[in-house]
Amino acid sequence: MLANKLCQLLNIQYPVIQAGMVWVSDWHLSSACSNSGILRTLGLWSMGHEEIELNIGKMNEHTKNPFAVNIPLLRPDAADIVRISHAAGVSIFITSAGNASCGRYRGQ
Ligand SMILES: Cc1cc2nc3c(=O)[nH]c(=O)nc-3n(C[C@H](O)[C@H](O)[C@H](O)COP(=O)(O)O)c2cc1C
Repeated sequence: MLANKLCQLLNIQYPVIQAGMVWVSDWHLSSACSNSGILRTLGLWSMGHEEIELNIGKMNEHTKNPFAVNIPLLRPDAADIVRISHAAGVSIFITSAGNASCGRYRGQ
């Protein structure tokens, strides 16, 4: 691991984050990054809840390395996606398409 705060915080080898990309960064791409030492991000914008659980399960199956999920705040079920992902063991969340500090998202 590099002597880098981001690497230490995320427990990754290199300070590189694979972007969350709808339709693209499902578990196939993200697992392929698993042994490269960077942070993988599951892009789940297009996925229903079952598909999200399946993708997280596959990620957990294919690597022990940490990964993030992208939470698009435009989705009305964004808080549910956080709950589902957290219950499946995810601890890194990258929000997009909205402002997490806005009142709409607080307390959900
Ligand atoms: C095909 C494609 C799909 C993307 N889908 C998402 C997405 O679902 N959520 C998101 O936050 N960003 C999405 N992005 C944006 C990327 O996460 C990233 O922010 C963007 O590619 C800029 O990356 P860069 O700053 O490394 O150049 C997408 C980008 C591409 C090219």
